[in-house]
Amino acid sequence: MQSIVLRHEADFEGWRHAARRLALGRVSPDQTVWSVAESRDLFADAESTPPQAGTFSVPRALVDLAETAIQARDPERFALLYGLIWRAHRGEKHVLEDEADPLVQRVARLGQAVRRDTHKMRAFVRFREVNEDGATRYVAWFEPEHYIVEANAPFFVRRFATMTWSILTPYRSAHWDGETLRLGAGAQPSDVPDDDALEAYWRAYFSSIFNPARLKVSAMTSEMPKKYWRNLPEAAVIPELIRQSRERTQTMIDSPVISPERAARPPTLPATAGSNSADGLSEVASAAAVCTRCDLYRHATQTVFGEGPLDARLMLVGEQPGDQEDLAGRPFVGPAGQMLDRALVQAGITRNEVYVTNAVKHFKFEPRGKRRIHATPDRTEIQVCRFWLDQERALVRPAVTILLGASAARAVLGRAVTISRERGKPIPLEGGQVMVTTHPSYLLRLPDEESKEREFAAMVADLRTAHGWLAK
Ligand code: URA
Repeated sequence: MQSIVLRHEADFEGWRHAARRLALGRVSPDQTVWSVAESRDLFADAESTPPQAGTFSVPRALVDLAETAIQARDPERFALLYGLIWRAHRGEKHVLEDEADPLVQRVARLGQAVRRDTHKMRAFVRFREVNEDGATRYVAWFEPEHYIVEANAPFFVRRFATMTWSILTPYRSAHWDGETLRLGAGAQPSDVPDDDALEAYWRAYFSSIFNPARLKVSAMTSEMPKKYWRNLPEAAVIPELIRQSRERTQTMIDSPVISPERAARPPTLPATAGSNSADGLSEVASAAAVCTRCDLYRHATQTVFGEGPLDARLMLVGEQPGDQEDLAGRPFVGPAGQMLDRALVQAGITRNEVYVTNAVKHFKFEPRGKRRIHATPDRTEIQVCRFWLDQERALVRPAVTILLGASAARAVLGRAVTISRERGKPIPLEGGQVMVTTHPSYLLRLPDEESKEREFAAMVADLRTAHGWLAK
């Protein structure tokens, strides 16, 4: 029997090193016992046996899955993962493709649970300001379900690079001093002060980003369990927001913006969706929230899904969320969104009647000092993310879709589009019509007021034309 002691609960490197050595040494899973060192020294050298020589190759997807699933709070995870490695190393290179295999299913469930927990951590960690001998430290308390602090600490380093912060959890703490990341022992909730000036800010921020059309109380409580609410200053406003949301939704129902014939048409649902399309869209949004189909999720704060009435006749598709959308979790709320809102008003379109979404659902950026600079999504990212846009289009089924800029055009039309050549014209697509126009960010980048005004007027004209198609 081989006993392997890993340095900590999510010691992926230690596990990988051991798994390689065991597989090459032909040690089968039932001859291994895995455990975690008792020591509080996270850098203890628990798995120090030199690597065994030989060829060891397992599929990249399996290594990626192991890196995620190893964070699950399941005492058997190391052995289960080694079981998969063992099979892949012994010739079952496509083992992950057998979705009916009980081991594959179990490990996939672990991976999914970790991804959900990761999403919650990235979305719900809230820092409180603490004064330490004249210097400011931001401290957050969070209770993850799984061992996700080690893997997520680098995300918070990138996100809050210029702050000095600590994230405390019951099993581990992460500390960043602006230069070095340190992982330490777990903490108590009482280690975090419970009142500070940031509370009012977060409360106001949350109220401003709250979206009644997306509210589903059951989803809210399962997506954001009460234990997280406790940590969030904005939790105080949630009951009132839920009450207001019901009233606002009723007002929307009482004044429909669609014809009764259209309302009666059954929507096309994706195979995975629930029994009505509202459930369908909210299920799709929940699935997108933990999307890892491309790498953009790694650095973004959260998935920014589309929003608007499910029976909207007009859909607007942008490129991808920007910095503010990434933080707020809603499309077009930053400077480009404000420009778009002004154009919509001038074109006689109410934003509430439009379903607004993006071709790519995660913010792609390059860090530059304190700022995150927009980076254009590439063809593959657009192609991979189209999955979600297709689901939205199949559920909302807009009569007219306006594509804002080249990325949106590529996503929906599946080809490169020169905006100046094709803008403003009707393009028939899947029983509806599509129009290409400029992206509001393009207007923001124009150097002089005159060209800004000219382009703005052209955009308003396009929006008005597309809106007019609805009447025909
Ligand atoms: N730009 C976009 O394309 N979409 C947004 O949501 C924000 C800015």
